[in-house]
Amino acid sequence: MLEVSDLRVVYANGTEALKSISVKAGRGEIIAVIGRSGAGKSTLLRCVNGLQKPTNGRVVLDGDEITAMSKRQLRDARRHIGFVWQEFNLVERLPAMTNVLTGRLGYDKSIRSAFFLFSKEDKEIALRSLDRVNLMHRARFRSDRLSGGEKQRVSIARAISQAPKIILADEPVASLDPELSVQVMSDLARVAREDGVLTVINIHQVELAKEFADRLIGIAQGVVVYDGTPAGLTDDVLDRIYRFDKDAVTMHEKHLNIEPSAKPAPVPRTIIT
Ligand SMILES: Nc1ncnc2c1ncn2[C@@H]1O[C@H](COP(=O)(O)OP(=O)(O)O)[C@@H](O)[C@H]1O
Ligand SMILES: [Mg+2]
Repeated sequence: MLEVSDLRVVYANGTEALKSISVKAGRGEIIAVIGRSGAGKSTLLRCVNGLQKPTNGRVVLDGDEITAMSKRQLRDARRHIGFVWQEFNLVERLPAMTNVLTGRLGYDKSIRSAFFLFSKEDKEIALRSLDRVNLMHRARFRSDRLSGGEKQRVSIARAISQAPKIILADEPVASLDPELSVQVMSDLARVAREDGVLTVINIHQVELAKEFADRLIGIAQGVVVYDGTPAGLTDDVLDRIYRFDKDAVTMHEKHLNIEPSAKPAPVPRTIIT
């Protein structure tokens, strides 16, 4: 479903955000991308949705090469990509239901949809999507009256109502407290699993990644340093992913009740590309 090959991104200021990333993912997989801040997680997601043109390499989604598309082709391609962002990206003044309905806009090219006159079928899909994240009772609520967790579940309903080929979530729980984070991650993983939608979630909380994803991809300094199951995420691997983040490693070591190590870090090594 998704094939990322030899992806390299160098920003205009010279920052090499991705060095050479290759990842293949199939239908229904739930993948968490973990790594310290600045590792390149958002850059990778932006290349997948075509917002960022890579310096090198290709992204192919369901047989279509995203990296070779014109702006217009990209707009069409994005109809099949569901987004869940850290800051929710809802239209605050509109009801929850209307926000979910915007997920159906790509499917209705008629002038009606430009005026938010949605078809009966679209309304049914939107209501069903809200119901799936247990928010039917909030359908008429203006989005700015919803809690953070509810807003994020509305954006999950919006994404799923698109019947997407892939869902991309960039730090979907970074603005939420731990309890709401668990609920949002659990709703996201559940609806994605039910619909068999490939889902890629950038997340910095390792515990949540392990709990809800089938596969973890660890990125450090623009390179994939781990690609495997949650069970394979040993301390050694965590060290490789987070070694450049002194705070995270120290926190991790404190958590394990061991002394922060004084020995110099070994040279980074890519185990899987
Ligand atoms: N538009 C940009 N211009 C220049 N550098 C950028 C830009 N966006 C991100 N970067 C840099 O690229 C690297 C990767 O960033 P990002 O993909 O946002 O990482 P993450 O999402 O893992 O925190 C960082 O060093 C960041 O500062
Ligand atoms: Mg990011």
